[in-house]
Amino acid sequence: MRVPLIAGNWKMNKTVSEAVAFAQELKCLAPFPGVEVLICPPYPALAPVAEVLAGTEIALGAQNVHWEDAGAYTGEVSPPMLKAAGCRYVIIGHSERRQYFGETDEIIQRKLKAAFRHGLIPILCVGENLEVRERGGTFDLIARQLEGALSGISEEEIGELVIAYEPVWAIGTGRNARPEDAQEVNYFIRDWLARRYSPEKAGSWRIQYGGSVTPDNAAELLAQPDIDGALVGGASLKVESFAAIIRAAA
Ligand code: G3H
Repeated sequence: MRVPLIAGNWKMNKTVSEAVAFAQELKCLAPFPGVEVLICPPYPALAPVAEVLAGTEIALGAQNVHWEDAGAYTGEVSPPMLKAAGCRYVIIGHSERRQYFGETDEIIQRKLKAAFRHGLIPILCVGENLEVRERGGTFDLIARQLEGALSGISEEEIGELVIAYEPVWAIGTGRNARPEDAQEVNYFIRDWLARRYSPEKAGSWRIQYGGSVTPDNAAELLAQPDIDGALVGGASLKVESFAAIIRAAA
């Protein structure tokens, strides 16, 4: 059985002291039986938050990574640096990275390879915008994004993989996908992975849903058979709402 992964992507929010205070509060509510909990703070807060979370089962992740181990790449952070800061996960190919920072499938593929090479578990984000959904192009686009990110990556290279289906029109808009629509896409992704890799692997990898997940809609979304957790933005910024989503997954 796949253990649901509830991940908080804080995006560009919280100073180090705010992040540490959040982690301390969340830690007081742990453990969370039957759910894996992950928080992804901005880079400066990673190591201080790791210190707070040490000895708990709450995992730490980064929101981005560079594909090289070290070198002249001003402003970038490498996989070994994330590992040393205590990260187990890394979000790759978030739609905001694709949209505002020009991340292409080729860049995303390099980052995935680097994450696998260093034993970081990538959360690969895919999802269509409203125009694509309205013209019925969702499945084609998702298949293209998966192909672009994973082509040339063999089953042997992949340790663990998480996919997050995040329809761009649902991110930060307060308008979540209907549970049955999200389920349909997540099923499509699993089927794609089963054909590309193996039904066993595809059955073991978690596929999250992300996009305006709140305490009010989480239970219904997470009840879908192919939704194995949530990638939460806005509602992960307050311990109360994040904890309510975690409880909905248990
Ligand atoms: O990574 C998280 C997603 O972009 C969802 O953000 O929950 O604020 O819609 P949101």
